[in-house]
Amino acid sequence: MSSNTTGHDGLPSSSTDADRTADAGDVVITDVMLRDGLQNQPTHVSLDGKLLLLRALAAAGVRSAEITSFVSPKAVPQMADAAELMRATAQMPMRLSVLAPNLKGLERAAAAGASEVAIVLSATDTMNRRNINMGLDEALRVSLQTLGAAIDLGLRTRAYVAVAFECPFEGRTPAARVRELAVPLLEAGANEIVIADTIGAAAPGEVRRLLDALLPVLPVARVGMHFHDTRGMGVANAFAALQMGIRRLDASTGGVGGCPFAPGASGNVATEDLVLMAEQSGYRTGISLPGLVAAVDLVENLLGSTHGGGAMPWLRRMAAQRRTEPLTA
Ligand code: COA
Ligand code: ZN
Repeated sequence: MSSNTTGHDGLPSSSTDADRTADAGDVVITDVMLRDGLQNQPTHVSLDGKLLLLRALAAAGVRSAEITSFVSPKAVPQMADAAELMRATAQMPMRLSVLAPNLKGLERAAAAGASEVAIVLSATDTMNRRNINMGLDEALRVSLQTLGAAIDLGLRTRAYVAVAFECPFEGRTPAARVRELAVPLLEAGANEIVIADTIGAAAPGEVRRLLDALLPVLPVARVGMHFHDTRGMGVANAFAALQMGIRRLDASTGGVGGCPFAPGASGNVATEDLVLMAEQSGYRTGISLPGLVAAVDLVENLLGSTHGGGAMPWLRRMAAQRRTEPLTA
């Protein structure tokens, strides 16, 4: 029986609840924990550990994940096993994306069997230099070149516009700059333009303002948003984006995250916080909260550190209750 808007365990149950009144539609969550999350951790997770994490995400119902980056292993040693991970996950029944910021990364990704790649262009000159060692003009040129080559190979593509709200080196990012960069990426054929608050500096009103500037020139179905929770506003920002019609959101299970090249960037918005907010607000994510609790337990074991979004203490209590009570629902 599923006549409540919450399941037996007190957690909002899946979208199949017959009497959910406000069906606000499907939301695609791309879990970036294995890439954005693990790239910045002092503890390196082994290939086997990464595979366990990915299986835990799949078991929780995650259907889209960004799992690694094909970048210099000197720059990001945690992603040095990118090709092995890609090959080992070829049969997983989910969309798997990988970061490939230049042609060399794309070649390596394609050779390892990637079917979806993401390029990353930062909105400021300094952030591009710190991240991929080239200025803004060259970064745009290389991004368009890499995107074009990926499309020629028949790959699905995501194009990030990073530091879209604020740059740790150059301050606030003008919306006009984000638009100037997003439009050529769209015109080059990127399937998805991902507007990224890399250092978690945005507030909901600013999300609205930036989307007001972007949505007249970008089809809303092709825009995703990527939030970090540095100031505790990740969920509020994601809700603002949902209210503006965005249906693609990045998040990281456990809120694991941070960018090694962007000082002050802390964890991504946690997938569990986003799923709880979205499901309880009438959106369908297809992702199970008890499944995410299990995935957070696993990542904590692998990293030897504590993780979890703001909702995690409550979610853990609910999950524990669920294990001790007879399941009668
Ligand atoms: N994958 C692996 N190695 C790469 C590479 C890639 N995509 N691109 C370049 N390299 C190698 C080159 O072959 C060269 O190797 P060598 O020293 O053994 O000859 C070396 O890296 C330097 O090449 P160069 O073209 O001069 O690159 P660079 O030093 O300007 O660095 C990047 C460019 C993009 C590879 C590097 O800045 C990087 O990996 N950045 C990490 C970006 C990232 O993951 N950010 C976090 C997420 S946003
Ligand atoms: Zn990020």
